[in-house]
Amino acid sequence: MVPVQGKVSSDIPKWQLALLLGVPVTIGAAGLYYYYKKNKSKKNANNRGESSKGSKPDQRSDEHVEKKPSTPNEIAESLKTEGNIFFKKGQYDSAIEKYTRAIEACPKESQQQLSTYYQNRAAAYSQLGKQQNVLEDCTSALEYNKFYVKALSRRAKAFEAVEKLEEALNDATALCMLEQFGNQSSIAFADTVLKKLGKTKARDLYASRKPLLPSKAFVKNYFTAFVNDPLIRTIVEEDTPLRQALELIKDGELDNIETLSTAELSNNDSKYHHLALLLRATFHMLSMSSENALSDLEMLLREKESAREIKSNALIKRALLKMQSANRDGAMKDFDEAEQLYSDNADIYHHRGQIYLLSERMEDALREFEKAISFAPECDVAHAQKCYAEFRKMSEINPAKKQEALNNFENISKRFPDSAEVSALYGQALTDAKDFEKAEKFYDKALEKQTDSGMLYVHKGLLYVQWRNDINAAVEMLQKAVETDPSCGFAYESLGSIEVQRGKFQPAIDAYTKALNLSRTEEEMAHIYSMVAAAKAQVSAAKYMGIEVN
Ligand SMILES: *[C@@H]1O[C@H](CO)[C@@H](O)[C@H](O)[C@H]1NC(C)=O
Ligand SMILES: *[C@@H]1O[C@H](CO)[C@@H](O)[C@H](O)[C@H]1NC(C)=O
Ligand SMILES: *[C@@H]1O[C@H](CO)[C@@H](O)[C@H](O)[C@H]1NC(C)=O
Ligand SMILES: *[C@@H]1O[C@H](CO)[C@@H](O)[C@H](O)[C@H]1NC(C)=O
Repeated sequence: MVPVQGKVSSDIPKWQLALLLGVPVTIGAAGLYYYYKKNKSKKNANNRGESSKGSKPDQRSDEHVEKKPSTPNEIAESLKTEGNIFFKKGQYDSAIEKYTRAIEACPKESQQQLSTYYQNRAAAYSQLGKQQNVLEDCTSALEYNKFYVKALSRRAKAFEAVEKLEEALNDATALCMLEQFGNQSSIAFADTVLKKLGKTKARDLYASRKPLLPSKAFVKNYFTAFVNDPLIRTIVEEDTPLRQALELIKDGELDNIETLSTAELSNNDSKYHHLALLLRATFHMLSMSSENALSDLEMLLREKESAREIKSNALIKRALLKMQSANRDGAMKDFDEAEQLYSDNADIYHHRGQIYLLSERMEDALREFEKAISFAPECDVAHAQKCYAEFRKMSEINPAKKQEALNNFENISKRFPDSAEVSALYGQALTDAKDFEKAEKFYDKALEKQTDSGMLYVHKGLLYVQWRNDINAAVEMLQKAVETDPSCGFAYESLGSIEVQRGKFQPAIDAYTKALNLSRTEEEMAHIYSMVAAAKAQVSAAKYMGIEVN
């Protein structure tokens, strides 16, 4: 199947959704509500819901301190008030000194008061940018009053400031739970931390990971996305290592490709030097070793004499690598260069169309697919993608014409009855159009032709979620997907999302962790890492709040 399949509209929910959906199902809004009611009667409850501005100290009872203080509590309260006055004047050092004295004067059993003083001192430290002190004081405030919203929020921000992102996320998640996901600014903050965490972790993980061979089905599908790939079209007469390698890769077998192409390259008399380089680059791309792939492609592209078929294919592949590392402009330049070199190559338009499709530029995608078809009228994948882009475009601008687009699909599915790609994309369009019963038929039809595709099982599983919210059927399909193709990362990712939604965090974390290993790009890795982190933070926050999760 074509790579675009994993990313279309029935995609997994974003983490916020997972978080929002996950919470009510798990601990239940009822659980949180219970917790709220239980604590309302306690004296420490009044600190939690308070909504005074985050940067100011608590001064709720300032006005009550009129008479001369005599008890230790009154003395402490009066010192705090003095601290607040300094704070308002921007004299933070003096404020800190007063709060410190308030803490010292306050009896240890007056926990509510103590938590306020620590929180206020944290606010003053925060103004001075002394994050370490902020962290310590917030932690003390929370020891005296575990559910002190302001202290939790301040500590989350301080953790973020010192790049302790996991800790920041745990606090931010607990905060969101405390506020019953009712405060957009807290949710936005958690989201920011999560994205930052995903990015940071993905950078390290991506750099350190080992090459990973995809399944045979994946390799075979990869080549259906090219009509003009010289690796498929070239006939090598001589019995050379390259010939063996090309036969293997056509069957999706990757084990010896690198050795064989290197053997070909070491033969000075070989006339297949360029092809061998292209093959080795393609092998590296498939095994997610982008740097090696890039270095082979650049070596090839520096050669003056290489055939335009080979060179334009190399440019398309380099463009795809650049897209993976989010270098869109670079990718577009490579496509343009390929077009100048060999404008009849349908693969250029086909792949550029897919990029537009993924970035929801349906009009541009449609134009590219039409051009691809004009150069390769028998390319089933290009026809299917054109129909899909048309369908999506109509869904956006003219829903009344959606049916027309589906009719075109019907037409090409008759024209290419044996094409798994056509059936699969038609199934996708039917799912989007909520014609679930028919969608299932076409996924089944695709599966008949392509029994080893994990991806198709994933799509069928997601169909059951959308159609009947049948989680068990969906999970069964996803398990089938990973049995069929253990390298199908999208299956693990979808499994993770489903487990989060039904509140099973540990299984979700396990599934996401597997998906992490199988993700193909750094961006994908960052996204999945965010999902892992969100699930872990929810477990930790729930524990903090004394709520049981599984
Ligand atoms: C939401 O959170 C922000 C930042 O923590 C806070 O300043 C604001 O008062 C909160 N809003 C409500 C309605 O609680
Ligand atoms: C191949 O060429 C390189 C340099 O061009 C040379 O050093 C090497 O000896 C040659 N090998 C054979 C087997 O001819
Ligand atoms: C359906 O496909 C046939 C060719 O197989 C074509 O002649 C016909 O015009 C198509 N119909 C529509 C509605 O696209
Ligand atoms: C992920 O890959 C690493 C090696 O790259 C391996 O050690 C680890 O066991 C894998 N984890 C999972 C969950 O597959």
